[in-house]
Amino acid sequence: MAIPKPMPRWTDDLITGDRVIDTHHQALFKIVKRLALATQIGRSAAQLDGALKFLHGYARAHFDVEDARMVALAFPYIETHRAAHRAFLNRVEELIAAAAARSDHEALAAETAAFAVDWFNRHVRLVDMPLIEFIRGARTS
Ligand SMILES: [Fe+2]
Ligand SMILES: [Fe+2]
Repeated sequence: MAIPKPMPRWTDDLITGDRVIDTHHQALFKIVKRLALATQIGRSAAQLDGALKFLHGYARAHFDVEDARMVALAFPYIETHRAAHRAFLNRVEELIAAAAARSDHEALAAETAAFAVDWFNRHVRLVDMPLIEFIRGARTS
């Protein structure tokens, strides 16, 4: 079984300094890593469906936390950030539908892992970090 690339990898430069958000991000990377590793041992439709729904639920709960902070602090880029979160959830919903319709579950799990790792790497670095810096600035001002 081919190992999906890129394998999810948490690196400390992704630490935002916000304990709740960092805990969520690290948990999300673990969820994605489990999904990626599962591609090496094969996965039934029901298992893949369950993993995708768990990812969707955890990500939505995390996005709700970030949303509450953005609202509380009147973060100026709230709509852009919300749209990025919505796009992620939409894509996971598409993957859930694909898991029901397709029979190549191992390939689909690998696609999911590659998409989710890439998304979180980019989102945390490029979209979450400015929010964290805004939160830090609000705390010290
Ligand atoms: Fe985040
Ligand atoms: Fe975010």
